[in-house]
This record gives sequence, structure tokens and C-alpha cells, in this order.
Amino acid sequence: MDFPLSLNPHSPIPLHQQLYEELRRSILTGRLLPQHRLPSSRSLAKLLGISRTTVTQSYDRLLSEGYLETIQGSGTYVCSQLPDELLHSAPVQPGDRPSQSPIRLSSYGDYLAQTSFQLQPEPDQPICFRYGRPAFDRFPLPVWRRLLSRHSRSLDWMDYATDMQGYRPLREAIAQYVGRARAVQCTPEQVVITNGTQQALDLMMRLLITPGDTIAIEDPGYLSAQRIFLSHGAKLLPIPVDEAGLQVETLTKPIAYPVRLVYITPSHQFPTGATLSLPRRLELLAWAEQQQSMILEDDYDSEYRYGDRPIPALQGLSQSYAVIYIGTFSKVLFPSLRIGYLVLPHSLVSITAQAKWLSDRHLPLLDQRVLTDFILEGHLESHIRKMRSFYDQNRQALVQALRIHFGEQITILGDKAGMHLMVRLQTHWSDAELVQRAEQVGVGIMLAQPHYLTPADRHELIFGYSELETAQIQIGIARLAQALYPNF
Ligand SMILES: Cc1ncc(COP(=O)(O)O)c(C=O)c1O
Repeated sequence: MDFPLSLNPHSPIPLHQQLYEELRRSILTGRLLPQHRLPSSRSLAKLLGISRTTVTQSYDRLLSEGYLETIQGSGTYVCSQLPDELLHSAPVQPGDRPSQSPIRLSSYGDYLAQTSFQLQPEPDQPICFRYGRPAFDRFPLPVWRRLLSRHSRSLDWMDYATDMQGYRPLREAIAQYVGRARAVQCTPEQVVITNGTQQALDLMMRLLITPGDTIAIEDPGYLSAQRIFLSHGAKLLPIPVDEAGLQVETLTKPIAYPVRLVYITPSHQFPTGATLSLPRRLELLAWAEQQQSMILEDDYDSEYRYGDRPIPALQGLSQSYAVIYIGTFSKVLFPSLRIGYLVLPHSLVSITAQAKWLSDRHLPLLDQRVLTDFILEGHLESHIRKMRSFYDQNRQALVQALRIHFGEQITILGDKAGMHLMVRLQTHWSDAELVQRAEQVGVGIMLAQPHYLTPADRHELIFGYSELETAQIQIGIARLAQALYPNF
């Protein structure tokens, strides 16, 4: 054998297994070429100082898997015709993890390797106050199926799209809808269809942010947005939030460096649920114009407002090009649809469409067509009306149950809009203990803690109420109160 084989006699992996893997890897990576003659089992055993049985065990396995072949009276050879699937199945090296890889990464790759975030497991209890999902079982599936069947009869959605901004009739339908529902001022020419909010934010980072630029964010705020900003090398400037939303006066205090962009969820601040007051909206717009900063307005669940009239979107209040509006169908329809949209100042439209095309060309045309008809035939707004009334019932049941069972021990925040509210507790339990105690009584709760820039126990819970029925909410809150305040 004209290359070293490294076997470790102290490893818990048996020697025959180690030898098998070494030889297999050498064949797959081309260190041992087809028709290469291997030493006899006796001489390899001698060479490596191991028993002959160990070598025969490894050879036998390689023979049976088709890596080696024997030629009668001549010896053992690397198989001359290795099946393709073997050549493509090089094993992942133990330790070949992104953060230790010798492969040189970009600063973007480096950021992901360092932070290495995972999808957080969500609570899975019989009663779960999970947030962020609509009530799937109330989605008008028959209507969607009918539209899908109507559009899939033809073949013309199968080709590449010809419009980099997204399917034109969908852009027209969206422009009308956001004008009506959110007082956004736009034409279809300003709309770019995206793969949800997530891609909209990513595209804006590519086009507007140079590493080192500062982005002001709400603290607490939307974690996924923060991750995108950091991955593009932005510095984050946390701005506190109170019951009227982002504290704009903190943002407008003079600071030594310019703020390139402000990311904000003004309709229903995530996660506190605050609605940015009209005076603050006007103050923020005036400041952005004066500073020549941009505002990224994420209007993710603005459709659900209870009681008082909705405040127009910042985009509609603005007299300038300072606001970029982002909408999504993840909350009003379903998140795996992956359709959202940007409403852009005219000067950004063409480069955004190009960036989108370079990134993933376009969204599936069939889905865009189905959604267009869903909006134009009035199903979207009718569904939103029904869901608003259903969520409102749940919201009222939740607020009432919280008041009855927790009394003065809690403060309820952000219950005027959206699909979740936040609760601040007076408690001696740690955040982890709160979750554990809830689990013990079969109730899943979620903490606000991960959405703060500085990790600490906050005793704040986010209660999603969109996926539950009223009775489950009442039972869940009663059990939770019993688990957290047994003597109350
Ligand atoms: C603040 C905020 N914006 C937007 C979204 C929706 O993201 P996407 O459109 O990528 O599904 C969410 C989802 O949880 C959110 O919390």
C-alpha cells in the first residue's frame, strides 16, 4: 500500500470498521483508483500490525458492497466499474462542521457558521398558546382547490415568467387591496412580489446596506429580521418600545453616526402588540426625511384590528420616498404559500426586481394565478372578515380568562390587534420554570425573552390565540393560573 492508513487502536470503533471506512473513503475520493491491486490480507495485516482476521473482515465487506473484486489466482483489486451511486455517496467526515471547516467562507457564510441558529422547537402540549399561525382548519380549502384546478388545466404557467416584478395581474390586485385596506399609496408598477417578508427583507439588505451601516430596530423585536440584518453586516441600534410603540424620541436624539434604516412593525409591534400612535408616526416620518434615512414598514398582521379604526400605514402618510412597505399572506392565508410583496419608491423597483430574479427568478406562476383570482373574486376579504370575528372572540375569551384567573398579577399588552397578545407577570418563578410548570399541566406557553437583544429573564409571555377554540382558552388559562399561583 503506497499511502498511510491511520488506524487508532484506542478508538471505541473496532479496527475492522476503521479499516473498512479508510479503504472505502480512499476509493470514493480517488486515492485508490479502479483496478489498483490491494496487498494480500496477510501482508496488510503484517504491515499494519493487526490480525489477519481484521483485514479479511474489512475486505469481505468491501467485496460484498462492490468496492473490491477478486480475480482468481491474481489477488484483490479496486473494482473497475464502481456504480455511480457509490461515487456520489462520499461519507460526511466527522468534524466537518461549518464552524470548523477548512473551507474559506464569505463574511455572510462566516456569520451563519458562527451563529449557527436552529429552528426552535415549539411547544407541543394538548393546549398550546402558540403564536404566528392562522387557524388552518378555517381556511376555505374548497375555494382554493377550485381555483387551483381551474388554472392547472392550461399549460402556460409552466414556462419561466416573463415579468421580473411578479405576475402583473397579482400586482394589480395587491395594489388595489393595500390601497383599500391599508391606505397605502401605490400603483402596480411599485409592487414586487417576494417569497414572503423574509425575502423582502433580504433583498432590501442587499440593495441598501453596506457592512457597518446602522439599522435601528425595535427592542424587543422580530428575531428573524434581526438575523437577516446581522448576516448582512449591519450594526443594530436597539430602540425601546412602550404601549404607544417605538419610542421615536429615543431614535431622534442626536447620535454620532447616521442611521441608515429603521425597521418597524407599527400596526402590531412584534412581540408587544403595541400600535404606533399617529403623533409618533408623523414624528418618525419627519425625522426620516430630515435624516435621509429609510423606513422598512413590516405590516405583517395589520388586517386584524379590533374595536377602533385602523391607523393608515406609514407608507400612506408619507409625502416622500422614505418608506418601503412590506406585506405578507402568511398570516391572512397560510405561511407555506410563501407570497409577500414590497411596495417600493419608483427608483428602487427595477433593481429590486433584478435582485429577485438573480436570487430565485420568480415564485411559482400557478400559485400567483390562484392567489390573484382569490383576491379578485373577493375571497380574501371575506376570509379576513370571518377570521377577524373568530380571532376577536378568542381574544376576548383570553383577556377575560386572564383577568379572572390572574387578577392583578399580570399586565396585558397589545390586545387591540393581531393574533397574539403579551402578558407581563409578577412572579418569583424564572422564565424556564414558568414554561416547565405550564408543561406539567398540559399547557404550552412561549416566552418573549428571545426577542430581546439582551437575554435575561423577563417574565413576559406571548399568547397566540388563533389556533384554539374558546373553551380550550378558558381551560388552558385556568390550569396555567393554578400551576403558577396555586395560592391565588
Ligand atoms: C414581525 C413579522 N413579520 C413578518 C412575518 C411573516 O414572515 P413571512 O412573510 O416571511 O412568512 C412574521 C411571522 O411570524 C412576523 O412575526
